Amino acid sequence: MYRLVPRKIRSYVARPWRVRRVAPLDSSDPHPAPALAVSQELARTTELLRIEIGERQRAEQVRLQLLNRLVYAEEEERRRIAREVHDQCGQDLTALKLQTARIKAECGGHAELHRRVEALEAIATQLDQDIDFLVFELRPTAHEGLDLRVVLAKYVQNWSAHFGIPVELHAGEMSDGRLTSKIKSTLYRITQEALTNVAKHARATHVDVILGQSSDHVSLAVEDDGVGFERGDVSVAGQGLGLLGMRERAGLVAATVQVESAPGRGTTILVRVPMPTPATDRALA
Ligand SMILES: Nc1ncnc2c1ncn2[C@@H]1O[C@H](COP(=O)(O)OP(=O)(O)O)[C@@H](O)[C@H]1O
Ligand SMILES: [Mg+2]
Repeated sequence: MYRLVPRKIRSYVARPWRVRRVAPLDSSDPHPAPALAVSQELARTTELLRIEIGERQRAEQVRLQLLNRLVYAEEEERRRIAREVHDQCGQDLTALKLQTARIKAECGGHAELHRRVEALEAIATQLDQDIDFLVFELRPTAHEGLDLRVVLAKYVQNWSAHFGIPVELHAGEMSDGRLTSKIKSTLYRITQEALTNVAKHARATHVDVILGQSSDHVSLAVEDDGVGFERGDVSVAGQGLGLLGMRERAGLVAATVQVESAPGRGTTILVRVPMPTPATDRALA
């Protein structure tokens, strides 16, 4: 005969239930624990566990709802900023270019002045390109009705031209209609973040973006041939929000993100999204 010595309730929740200490029942004990008391204790523990699990599930649901709202608010804010930057800065830049062109025309024989105005023109052109790229990065990702392959192809083409790094998009046949706009938006933003990391950290000479689909999932891989990194590097204080953000975003469509990297061996970001079904759609709404 053995007597169970239970631990605190919380530790039961954190780990699979197991007996920490099993003490042999002393036959000379004048007050042996009756089987009924043990089973009552077990029933009480099980009930507490059930309550605790329920509370955790509710807390996780609230966290996901908040994250959903946050992502939606972020998209809205990006849309607003993109529109304002495009409209306001676009107008100001057009006025600036017109004025400089006029001054240049009035320079006459002043070679030095002419050269300076041309330098101003070059700055205005650069500013124009920078603003275009900013607006392009901020663009909303509500891709309803748009083929994800087309949207990604346009994005990687622009990105490649801006940073001067060749990118190849490999995308097989897809039944795009089965993808919700939330999934498309998630894959688009993750590609964007992965490519931002390539531009910032990788010193890569080539990037492959691979989009594939099977009957039960969609996968996306962004693979660079850059410097790579030790997985431990990600935990450096103040860093890692990009990769963390990818995971958070992916979680909203039940997707997983895998990061494969090693110094000198490039980096691959692999995303796997289960195909939506009416049941998962309801659960993730
Ligand atoms: N493609 C990549 N090539 C090399 N290093 C990378 C790459 N992607 C991420 N990293 C490393 O992982 C770290 C975390 O990336 P991230 O979470 O996006 O944060 P951040 O870009 O703000 O530093 C980066 O600081 C960098 O050291
Ligand atoms: Mg980053």
